[in-house]
Amino acid sequence: MEAKHLSKYMSADIARVESIMRASLGSDIRLLQETNNDVLASGGKRIRPIMAVLVAKALGRCNDDTYLFAAASELIHNASLLHDDVADDASLRRGKPTVSSILGPRASVLLGDFWLVKGIDVILSAQRYGDRVMHGFAKTLSHLAEGEMLQLELARTGRTTEEDYLRVIFDKTASLFEVSAYSAAISAGVPDARVAAAANYARCVGMAFQIKDDIFDYQEASNIGKPVGQDLRERKITLPLLGAFKTKPERETEIRKKVCLVPEHPEYIAEIMEYVRDGEGIHYAEKRMQYYLHEAVESLSAFPDCQEKEYLAYVVHYISERTF
Ligand code: FPP
Ligand code: MG
Repeated sequence: MEAKHLSKYMSADIARVESIMRASLGSDIRLLQETNNDVLASGGKRIRPIMAVLVAKALGRCNDDTYLFAAASELIHNASLLHDDVADDASLRRGKPTVSSILGPRASVLLGDFWLVKGIDVILSAQRYGDRVMHGFAKTLSHLAEGEMLQLELARTGRTTEEDYLRVIFDKTASLFEVSAYSAAISAGVPDARVAAAANYARCVGMAFQIKDDIFDYQEASNIGKPVGQDLRERKITLPLLGAFKTKPERETEIRKKVCLVPEHPEYIAEIMEYVRDGEGIHYAEKRMQYYLHEAVESLSAFPDCQEKEYLAYVVHYISERTF
């Protein structure tokens, strides 16, 4: 199977999700219209709504509300990126200049607010389960903000442990994957055990997705549309570096200090990257990623056998093999 098969299989569903997003973002302010169009056109993999629709179909009941919740997850995802690019002072996203770099941080935050509120509105417009799903998303939104704050705190101290790292990536990434599948399963009206299996599947996919993203940051040849070494520029200690600390502990204290000093000493980036290479940090991170992917596949055993379940298994494979 290939990614294009999945995109083709899902093309009508993706079109439906995009049309909900587009309709929800309507405004008479020209700057908003133009910027919304740019962000919509910049794409993204639409992995959260794809997963959501697959989950509901696999569980046997994909309906109007499923598409609303799926669209909301993508709106909120984009809202968080518009905020994140301000927090990280990022100039590139998906290979293109960020809204923050073109229109400034104020506009990016305001646009993020707009997309966030539209996401909430879309959830509340559902026929059934809107309240229950809104509670789920509210929890996730707290996780997003907490994860970002914890990340800022850790960047200041340079003391990130693996436990801290796992908390950050659950909060900032996996929690949104989780609620996307959770809301899709709720929309399908299935028993709680299946809702929990769907949520666990997506949480594990989300953890693996972020670990992969953090691996890309150490790979020159990656095609991800963001510069390498960016995490170090932001003084973020991620799993490849934590893995190298395990195999080369004799330099851990020195390297941690250097991470904190990267903003004033960008030449440390190459040195830290070499330390990660020597310490086989990428291998360590890949093993952890595979653990989560295995867990994700295990969760699928609670799903009935069907084409969509195979695609959900393919998503797991895609995360491990993705090059962008
Ligand atoms: C990307 O991480 C960041 C996130 C996935 C979450 C960002 C969340 C916030 C800014 C909290 C506020 C948001 C809302 C909607 C209330 P990254 O910087 O590691 O990834 P990147 O390399 O793609 O930027
Ligand atoms: Mg960022």
